[in-house]
Parts: sequence; structure tokens; C-alpha cells
Amino acid sequence: MAEYQTLLVEQRGPVTLVTLNRPEALNALNAQLLSDLLAAMAVFEADATQGCAVLTGSAKAFAAGADIKEMQAQGFADMYAHDFFAGWDQFTRTRKPVIAAVGGYALGGGCEVAMMCDFILAADSAKFGQPEIKLGVTPGMGGSQRLARAVGKAKAMEMCLTGRMMDAAEAERAGLVSRVIPAADLVEEAVKTAATIAGMAPLAILANKEMVNYAFETGLAAGVQFERRLFHGLFGSADQKEGMTAFVEKRSGQWRGR
Ligand code: CAA
Repeated sequence: MAEYQTLLVEQRGPVTLVTLNRPEALNALNAQLLSDLLAAMAVFEADATQGCAVLTGSAKAFAAGADIKEMQAQGFADMYAHDFFAGWDQFTRTRKPVIAAVGGYALGGGCEVAMMCDFILAADSAKFGQPEIKLGVTPGMGGSQRLARAVGKAKAMEMCLTGRMMDAAEAERAGLVSRVIPAADLVEEAVKTAATIAGMAPLAILANKEMVNYAFETGLAAGVQFERRLFHGLFGSADQKEGMTAFVEKRSGQWRGR
């Protein structure tokens, strides 16, 4: 496995477990971490033995935000000319699923990266927030848009305007996270969930992710049409024949990835 300055990466069977590892800064997201994460995701995407990734942090912090010390002295011209944060878009283009396993603080960019993942499993210790307003700025990695889509205008607006944190129970009620798990079991449960996903037919994994994401990018009629076309397309795969035959024969499918 490659070594990274800001990440620990291990393979657990078909699951790539990526742990953010800048404990001295509560996993604040700096340029090195983005570069390491994109490199790790490229390895994950290219490795046919890997079906799903889990992105996690420490018990105290998933990530406490973008690195404030890296941004403090920057001016508008630097931020705009370098299109600061645009590199994160590449992370969202990962085609295989990525689960965020959030324990402790997911603030600012930390909350935004969790929301870039396909779904969030939260420890009961998790705290989500967009406190950028307290720094005189706004979210900059998509947080205002993804949070509003995830929890609706009222909560998103309140959180962005006050900077208050949501605990795990509120985040689950609001639909920001799919499930809350006791903190001690978070990573194991996330890896188990990821292994379940990785055991599905590879083309169906890609298609399901792509079509659910499409719901956020388009209107209902176009989204339903897109879903139906991808669904039709899978009937050209060997794994559709295998999956349906296996059901009829009362056995598990043996996937070929085509
Ligand atoms: N950037 C850089 N360093 C950070 C950081 C961040 N976002 N968050 C924490 N750290 C550093 C602290 O400076 C501290 O370093 P030193 O020991 O060198 O002083 C170390 O991590 C430990 O942090 P604290 O001592 O503050 O820990 P705490 O337990 O007292 O508080 C906390 C925890 C409430 C999360 C607090 O650290 C905090 O409020 N962090 C900042 C949260 C924040 O504002 N995030 C948004 C950042 S802006 C952003 O993300 C923009 C965007 O849209 C992408």
C-alpha cells in the first residue's frame, strides 16, 4: 500500500478504509490532504478488487474544517485565480461508492466532505456544523448547496447563519445521516456496510450510485427517464442474467463485472 503524509489507507477485503490522519490539526483539510486523498481514490478506483471505500477520521474529529491557517493570509486574487477548493470536485467524481463514517467534529469543510460522500454513517458522538460565518466567510466546498438539499432550507439556513452544531440524533432526524451507531462500533459497522455493497454486481453498484446522484442534478421527468435507460442498459450485462438466474435457483450471484 502507498504511504501518505496525511492519510492511513488499508484494504479490508474488498473495502478500502481511508483514515484522515492530521491529529495535530483535528484533520483540518489542507492542500497536502486533498492531494493525498485524490491519489488514494485513484488507486481505489483503478483496483478491481475494491468495491467500496470508507472515509473516516478520529474519535474526536472527522475533520474540523478546511485548514484556517492555510487560508488566513490569502486574498481574493489568490483564491479566485487558483480557484481554491475546486480540486475537491474531483473527489466527488469518484464512481465507486464512498461512505463517510463520522465520529466527533465534522465542521465546515469536514461537514462538506462528509456530504460529498455517498452517505454518512454517524457515531453517536458526531457533531455537524457550518461555522464559517464565525470566521467572516461562508462554506466554500459546496456546503450551502448540499446541506440545503439534505436537510431543507430552514435547518440549512439556521446552521449557516448561526454556526450552531447539530448532534447525531438531530442529523439523523433531519436526513443528513443514514444511521447513528455507537461510537466504538462506527468503523467496523461502516466497513461491514461497505463490504455488503462491494458484494453486489459491479455494474449495478456504479449505476445505482449514478442514478441516485442524478436526482440532485435534474428534474423528476428527466431523472426517471435516466433511471429507466440505465436500468435497460443493465439487461445487456452478464451479471443481470446471473443475478436473476441465481434468484430463481435460490443461490447467491457470482459476479463477473460485465
Ligand atoms: N484549521 C486549522 N487548524 C485547526 C482547525 C482548522 N479548521 N481546527 C482545529 N485546528 C487546530 C487548532 O488550531 C489546534 O492547533 P494548536 O494546538 O496548534 O493550537 C488544534 O487543531 C486543536 O484544536 P483546538 O485546540 O481548537 O481543539 P478544541 O477541542 O478546543 O476545539 C473545535 C475543537 C471546536 C473543533 C475547534 O478546533 C474549532 O472550532 N475549529 C475550527 C472549526 C471551524 O471553524 N471550521 C471551519 C473552517 S473554514 C472552512 O471549512 C471553509 C470551508 O467552507 C471549506
